[in-house]
Amino acid sequence: MTDSLTVRDNRTGQEYDVPITDGTIKAADLGKIKSGEDAPGLAVYDPGFVNTASCRSSVTYIDGDEGILEYRGYPIEQLAEKSNFLEVAYLLIHGSLPDKAQYDAWVHEITYHTFVHENVKTFMQGFRYDAHPMGMLMASVGALSTFYPDARNISDADNRHMQIVRMIAKMPTLGAWSFRHAQGKPYVYPDNDLGYTANFLSMLFKMSESKYDADERLVKALDVLFILHADHEQNASTNAVRSVGSTQVDPYSAVSAGVGALFGPLHGGANEAVLRMLRRIGSKENIPAFIEGVKNGNERLMGFGHRVYKNYDPRARIIKKAATDVFEVTGTNPLLDIALELEKIALEDEYFVKRKLYPNVDFYSGLIYEAFQFPPEMFTVLFAIGRTPGWLAQWLELTQDKEQKIARPKQIYTGDRGLTFTPASERWA
Ligand code: ACO
Repeated sequence: MTDSLTVRDNRTGQEYDVPITDGTIKAADLGKIKSGEDAPGLAVYDPGFVNTASCRSSVTYIDGDEGILEYRGYPIEQLAEKSNFLEVAYLLIHGSLPDKAQYDAWVHEITYHTFVHENVKTFMQGFRYDAHPMGMLMASVGALSTFYPDARNISDADNRHMQIVRMIAKMPTLGAWSFRHAQGKPYVYPDNDLGYTANFLSMLFKMSESKYDADERLVKALDVLFILHADHEQNASTNAVRSVGSTQVDPYSAVSAGVGALFGPLHGGANEAVLRMLRRIGSKENIPAFIEGVKNGNERLMGFGHRVYKNYDPRARIIKKAATDVFEVTGTNPLLDIALELEKIALEDEYFVKRKLYPNVDFYSGLIYEAFQFPPEMFTVLFAIGRTPGWLAQWLELTQDKEQKIARPKQIYTGDRGLTFTPASERWA
C-alpha cells in the first residue's frame, strides 16, 4: 500500500501524487495543482473547518465513535475521579504529571497570583450595573495585557510560564467579581488559605463571615466540572486562541478572544437551553409528546448530540454522577427527574439510536450550576475558568510549533471587479 493520493486534474489531464501523512494531505500540495502556468493553485473550501486539521497537537485525544476523551493520554474518567483541577492544569501545560515538589511549587505559584492589581477592580466597578459577566470577563482578561506589558515577550520560556500562572490564578478572581458585580455585592478578595476551587466559592458567596467554609462535596463537584471542561482539542474557542495567538500577540489578548468565542450560544450556551427545555416540558407526563415533537422536527432535544461524539459523551456520564453528589447537599432539583426520564426514553427510541444521539456535557451541567444558585449568565464563566489551562496549553504548543504560521485562510471571492469610482459629489448631483 502506498501512502499517497493520485489526483487526475481533468482540466489538464495531468496526474499528481499527493503524499498522505497521518491520515491527511497537505493543502499546500493541492496548491501545486494548476489549470495553467499562471493560474492559482487548487485550494480547499471548508467553511467551519469541518474537515481541516489546523495543527499537530499532543494535548487532548478524542475518539468520538468510542466516546473516549484523554488529556495527555490519561482517560478523563480517571482524572475526574482521582486528580484535582490544578494537577490536571499542570498536566495539560507541562505534558506530564508533577512529582510532589513540582506539584507543591505549582499550587503555591497559582495560589499567590490570585490577587489582581487594584486598578483592575476599579475598572471592573465601572461596568454597567447589569453587565453580562462574560463581557466583563472577556474585557478584564484582555486588560491584563496592559498590566503585564512584558507578556509580549512570548519567545522567553520563563516569561510564558509567568503569564500562564497568572492567568490560571486570576481567572476565578475575575469570574467571581463579574458575578458579584451584577448582584451589587462587594467584591471579595482571594483567600490564600483555601484551595483553588474553595477559594473561588468563597469569592462568589462570602458575605460578612470571616471565613467562607464551602461544603467539601460542593467543592469536589465544581472541581470535577472544571476538570471536565479543561480542554477539548480544536473547538471553536481554542481555535480562536490559536488564531489570535498566531499573530504572536500576548497570551492575555489571545485568551480574551477565546472567552469571546465561548460566549456564543453555539459554543458555551447549550446548558442554559437544556434548563429552559426541561422547564417547558414541566413534568414527566409531557415527555412522550415532547419526544414526538422532536421526531417530527418541531423541537430539538437540547443537550443531546455532538459534532464529534457519536456515543455517550464521557463527560456527561461523570457529570450525571456529580449531579447526584451535589443534590445530596442542596436538595434535589425537580428538573432532574424529568432529565433522567427524558434520557431513558430517548436512548431507547429508534430516532435517537439511528442518529447516534446521546447526552452531551451540557445535558446535566446546567442542573448542577442551578443547584449552586448560579444564574444562567454565569454558566459560561464557569466553563471559561475550567477551559483556561486548555487554552494556554494549546497556546504554548502553538508558540513552539515551527510548522505554524499566522492563521490567514483563503477566500472564494464573489464580488464585483474593476468598477470605476465616481466621487460622491457627482453621484449625488
Ligand atoms: N435533537 C434532535 N435531533 C437532532 C439533535 C437533537 N439534539 N441533534 C442532531 N439531531 C439530528 C439532526 O436533525 C439530523 O437528523 P437528520 O439526519 O434526519 O437530518 C441528525 O441528527 C444529525 O445532526 P446534525 O445537525 O447534522 O449534527 P451536527 O454534528 O451538525 O450537530 C449539534 C451537532 C449542533 C451538537 C446538534 O446535535 C445539536 O444541535 N444538539 C443540541 C444542542 C446541544 O446540545 N449543543 C451542545 C453541544 S456540546 C458543546 O458545545 C459543549
